[in-house]
Parts: sequence; C-alpha cells; structure tokens
Amino acid sequence: FRRSYSQLQPQSDRPSFGIAFDIDGVILRGRTPIGGSPRALRRLYRDDGTLKIPFLFLTNGGGVPESKRASELSELLGIQISPRQVVQGHSPFKEVVNWYENELIVAVGKGEPAAVMSEYGFKQVLSMDEYASYFKDIDPLSHYKTRGIKQTYDENSSKELVPRYDVYSDRVKAAFVVSDPSDWGRDIQVLCDILRYGGLPGRDKGHQPPIYFASDDLEYQAAFPTERLGMGAFRIALEGIFNSVSGSPLKYTSFGKPNPFVFKNAEVILTQLVSDIYHSQDNMDGGTGHEFSTLYMIGDNPKVDINGAMKAGRPWFSILTRTGVFKGQDNDTQFPADLVIDTVEEAVDHILKKEH
Ligand code: G3P
Ligand code: MG
Repeated sequence: FRRSYSQLQPQSDRPSFGIAFDIDGVILRGRTPIGGSPRALRRLYRDDGTLKIPFLFLTNGGGVPESKRASELSELLGIQISPRQVVQGHSPFKEVVNWYENELIVAVGKGEPAAVMSEYGFKQVLSMDEYASYFKDIDPLSHYKTRGIKQTYDENSSKELVPRYDVYSDRVKAAFVVSDPSDWGRDIQVLCDILRYGGLPGRDKGHQPPIYFASDDLEYQAAFPTERLGMGAFRIALEGIFNSVSGSPLKYTSFGKPNPFVFKNAEVILTQLVSDIYHSQDNMDGGTGHEFSTLYMIGDNPKVDINGAMKAGRPWFSILTRTGVFKGQDNDTQFPADLVIDTVEEAVDHILKKEH
C-alpha cells in the first residue's frame, strides 16, 4: 500500500480537497456497513486499488489499536485502509505519553484498552479488568455477573494471583477511559476508589489523580434503532457520583470531536497522505506546500461532528447524514451543517461532482 502511495502521480491529479468520515452512524451501525458506504469509499481509489482522494476516518469510538481497526475496517468495507487513515477518540492519548511513560496507569473500556496504551508507549498499563481483579471484594456485585469480568482469584483456595505491578503500594498516576466502559457499576466504583484515595484503593484520602476521556459523546448510533449512551453519559454518571461521595468536583479532560485540535490533526494527516501519494513530486518541490481548499467532515451527530467542523472553521465544510443520531428532515437548529443529505454515498457523490 505504501509503495503504491509513492508512485509519481501527475500534478494535475492532485486533489485540493480531502474527506473525514465519521464511523458510527455514517459508515457502520454496529458492524454493518450503512448508507452505501463500501461503494462510496471505493470511488476514492484508482482502478489499481491505490488511493486517489485523501481521506481518513475520524471517529470518537475506539478500543483497539489503530492498526487493528484499520484491518477490521478494510475487511468490513472491502477496501485497503492504512492505520494512518484511522483517528480514534483515544489517538491523542499518545501525546501525553511523556508524562506517564513509566508510571502506573489504568486503562478503562471495551476491547483492548491496555494494548492501545502500550502501543502508544505507556510502559506500566493495567486494564480496569486486570486492576480490579487484584483487589478482593472491590466489586461486591462481581459474583452476580455472568460474563465480562475476569475472575483472577481462585474462588476455592482464595489464593491471589501476583500482580504484574505493585498495585498495593504504587499509586495509579492517571486513569484513561479509552473506550465505552462495559461494566459501568464496577468501573464507577473502582474509579471512585482510585480518584478519592490518591490512586490507592482502600487507603486514606489523597489527591485526585488526573482522568482522561477519549471523547464526550452523550449518545451515539449503534445497531439498535435509537441512540445508545456513550462515553459522555458515563462521564456524567461518574462525575455525579464522585462529586457526591468525595465532596469535591471531579477534575477531568476530554479528547475527541468536537475539540478543534482533532480537526487540526486530521488536516495534518490528510496533508501527509497527499504528500505520500505525490511523494516524488514533493521531493522535487522540496516539501508538500499543499493547501486544501476544502476539507469535508461527513458526520451524523450535530453536537459532535458538525459542531467540531464549525469550531475548526475554514477549510472545513460539514455534511450531516440522516443515517445516525440526526434523523430530522431539515437542518439541526443548534449546530446547522453546511449540507444535509440522506447517506454517505450521496455525500461522496455530491463532493466528487462539485470537485470535478
Ligand atoms: O463509541 C463510539 C461513539 O461514541 C462515536 O463514534 O464514529 O460516531 O464518532 P463516531
Ligand atoms: Mg457518529
């Protein structure tokens, strides 16, 4: 794939636009492609399978490393996607690796949150599943749960497994909510323990360690007909409970759309993609020198995708589809998109007609 990027393409072909696709509610619902997404995306490649139009996925979801998400998307959509074309809610976590590189951190959420953080360079990462399992009785409801919780205690002998890190005296220096938590009750309980007791559950009160959320989506569109509660809803639940039990307000940081830096970063990646496609030409030019006249954000969530593109300003142009969170006839009143259209396929068709 990379080799094909490097082939010299005629200068006149160089597109002055790029596209960022939201995933949930635009490309997929659950694991099912929607809105003609495979057909739409295929139009962005040449006949020989090389990339023609710079595009990436800009999702607030996540839970697996970008390389794995790229393979999963390639398989589901029948196209060749490189890891660089996948920006997830947690992708910016790699920017703070220097602060916690050799510190104990806990990674929360569905999928493989610890693998994600390890790939970003964090050296002492425990998933919430593993961390919680080292504290006997930390979740008084664990026996009632039939799946999802890894039981690392031998129930008969009450013998503990030896933790990989000294979780009984090393403080958790930060918690990262990487993806949507799959056991809210346990995770809120253990996060309150970590946050109230200075990173050491079951001890005396201490300073609240930082907590980072990959995104702040109140709701998102999954396979169920109506929206599902997202990471923002989990944050509100944790915050409400933490504030009540600790008596002090939760301090937290959220990444993901609609933060303008996400769109800035997407622009940088799209510029690099152009540079890869026209590699040889750029070497002759002595740099990319590339400026987009338009960057399209195709999303389904006005509050997140459209609001983000609006905040990012030019050259972003927002397109709202009706396949996800937004189901209205007209435009969203609070965060109106530049264009409202039924599906992602119609959006790509519109863009290609306009740009050629
Ligand atoms: O959990 C995923 C969700 O919050 C949003 O995903 O692709 O619509 O940004 P997306
Ligand atoms: Mg979405």
